Amino acid sequence: MGRRRSFGSRLLAGLALASMSICLVLLHQLSQDGKAAIGGATNEAIERRQRHSHRYLLMAAAGSGSVPAAASAIESKQQPSTTAKETAPRNGEDNNNNNNQSSTSDAVDRRLPRLLIIGVRKGGTRALLEMLNLHRDIAMVPVEVHFFDKFDNYQRGLDWYRSQMPLSSDAQLTVEKSPSYYVTPEVPERVYAMNPHVQLVLIVRDPVTRLLSDFAQIEASRAAQNLPNRRFQDVALLPNGEVNTQNRALHVSLYAKFLSRWLHVFPRRQLHIVDGDRLIRDPWPELQKVERFLGLEHLIRRDQFYFNATKGFYCLTGTPTDVSNDNVTLATADENSHHSHHYHHKCLAGSKGRRHPQVPDEVISVLRQFFAPHNRKFFAMVGQDFDWPEQ
Ligand code: A3P
Repeated sequence: MGRRRSFGSRLLAGLALASMSICLVLLHQLSQDGKAAIGGATNEAIERRQRHSHRYLLMAAAGSGSVPAAASAIESKQQPSTTAKETAPRNGEDNNNNNNQSSTSDAVDRRLPRLLIIGVRKGGTRALLEMLNLHRDIAMVPVEVHFFDKFDNYQRGLDWYRSQMPLSSDAQLTVEKSPSYYVTPEVPERVYAMNPHVQLVLIVRDPVTRLLSDFAQIEASRAAQNLPNRRFQDVALLPNGEVNTQNRALHVSLYAKFLSRWLHVFPRRQLHIVDGDRLIRDPWPELQKVERFLGLEHLIRRDQFYFNATKGFYCLTGTPTDVSNDNVTLATADENSHHSHHYHHKCLAGSKGRRHPQVPDEVISVLRQFFAPHNRKFFAMVGQDFDWPEQ
């Protein structure tokens, strides 16, 4: 008996030693992967990854064997692996759950969004999402899910919506963006039914510029269908020179009209408004404001952006995440950039930053005058003046 016991304890000790060695090897491997993945990222970013890796390895050692794969997916902020733990509750179960958190703290899971970027179309929603995703505590949904605005999707229920979410840790905040949420009448109530405490972000830009951007996108898709090109002024104005108020794209620029529906359902303090024109000129201060609104640590740094002269926009330098979706491509490094040897450069795809149509000044002026009273109403509602030209 005594011999068997001592053999048993020797076996246990051996097993414990073996698991520790496996953990150490995995830890080393993950930290190497992390370094390789982020190329020239800063020591701070590498350390953060190592801290996270270590945390999940400890959890793995404690018995949840599938977690490391999921954890490394979070670390790289890629789409989840199939080994991930799935504990989606039944539909409606989140109604009274402010945070949509799993009961086990630190558990890797799919969580319903706590932040929605609700619009506005062509306001800079993709840029905002990708930039926010630089933050350690943000887990973004890479595609637009259109859960609340498309009836067929909404019918699938919250379980389905949750299944579209990325894996996240307890500390992370899942964010989804679908720009048509802003203008679809049913959406505010549906969002409220999911979680009355959800945080909302709206990004707006000068309504005339937004309209030009929308028009450029519509024309690009018409061209792809071999439909003839149209002149902007023939779409935005009537033959008598007045504004074509029936134009759908023009309606999207009437921000105040849609805002009243949202403010009817949600208190103003749950909505943050990003100045899309400023985000283009200098993204970092706008991102700092979003971090503050969300109560996140200020972790996004100015040096994570650089102005790419070829693209004509800010792009991301060596980010701590892999920005992996079809709207984002690796851009060729700017030859004059001193970053080019050390960082992965990520610019938004060509569908962002299209050339706008050349439009006579008089047409722009007519549109600005048309939007002016609507804009003033919007400024009054949100308590923020965006200073869009009125002439
Ligand atoms: P344009 O293509 O008209 O320039 P959305 O993602 O909501 O569709 O918005 C697209 C707009 O995002 C683009 O409109 C572009 O102006 C703006 N944008 C803001 N920051 C950008 C960035 N860093 N790179 C590319 N486009 C950006």
